[in-house]
Amino acid sequence: MTPKPFTHRDAVPYRPLDWTGEYPPTYPKGAVPEHVAIVMDGNGRWANRQGLTRVEGHRAGEAALLDVVAGAIQAGVKHLSVYAFSTENWSRSPDEVRFLMGFNREVLHRRRDQLNEWGVRIRWSGRKPRLWGSVIKELQHAERLTEGNSTLTLTMCVNYGGRVEIVDAMRRIGDDIAAGRLKPSAVTEKLIRKNLYQPDMPDVDLFVRSSGEQRTSNFLLWESAYAEMVFLDTLWPDFRRTHLWDAIGLYLSRDRRFGGAVDAPTA
Ligand code: IPE
Ligand code: IPE
Ligand code: MG
Repeated sequence: MTPKPFTHRDAVPYRPLDWTGEYPPTYPKGAVPEHVAIVMDGNGRWANRQGLTRVEGHRAGEAALLDVVAGAIQAGVKHLSVYAFSTENWSRSPDEVRFLMGFNREVLHRRRDQLNEWGVRIRWSGRKPRLWGSVIKELQHAERLTEGNSTLTLTMCVNYGGRVEIVDAMRRIGDDIAAGRLKPSAVTEKLIRKNLYQPDMPDVDLFVRSSGEQRTSNFLLWESAYAEMVFLDTLWPDFRRTHLWDAIGLYLSRDRRFGGAVDAPTA
């Protein structure tokens, strides 16, 4: 029997990580990507295809997220960053935007104890302007509640955009230059990195996008400069931990060269 997925009706859904009875393959030591970033895409298409409205797709995405977080912990991933609302998503209908804001707030509220129980440290990455105050409050509450955890850092990217993240970093650096605290020649990649929303976040190793779209849509641009890209056709509401493990499998088959080269003629 397929184990029951989480639904938004579960009030206190404490479950062990392996409640589905599935386990990841044994990975070679040190091979698992330290930081996985996921563009959780395809909710609207999933819903519309079955005659439902788009928001039903977002609702169904909650179970996928919980399952994937559990699967990431099982696999030994240390950082998981998920794209929940982009700075471009404000262009959607007012109804959908309103739903997404309220939904993000509710999911955080509903799942923070379960995530805390699993040892997840929740962080928020994104911009304050425009983001609902009640969403920021929930994000900050979850950050405080889970700040002592170290099993996995789950970065919720809400009102996040890769370009504005770099713009915001530049403004801070610009202030320091204007105030005479910093010379332009001291601006380095390292300094820009330190001024991004989450300075401690390591670079993305594996960038996954569901739903078949093959673009970054402005997600973690700086951090993903050398990420391996994996695009899976599965729509986000159908996405489960096994898809994450498939993506990790593809990642492991890649040759990460970081610009280097090995001369090895084979014939
Ligand atoms: C991803 O699913 C969720 C958010 C962007 C918040 P979409 O809502 O983009 O679903 P599609 O891509 O239209 O199917
Ligand atoms: C990216 O998906 C944003 C999130 C998943 C939150 P979109 O559905 O907004 O991206 P585009 O419009 O297809 O590029
Ligand atoms: Mg989409």
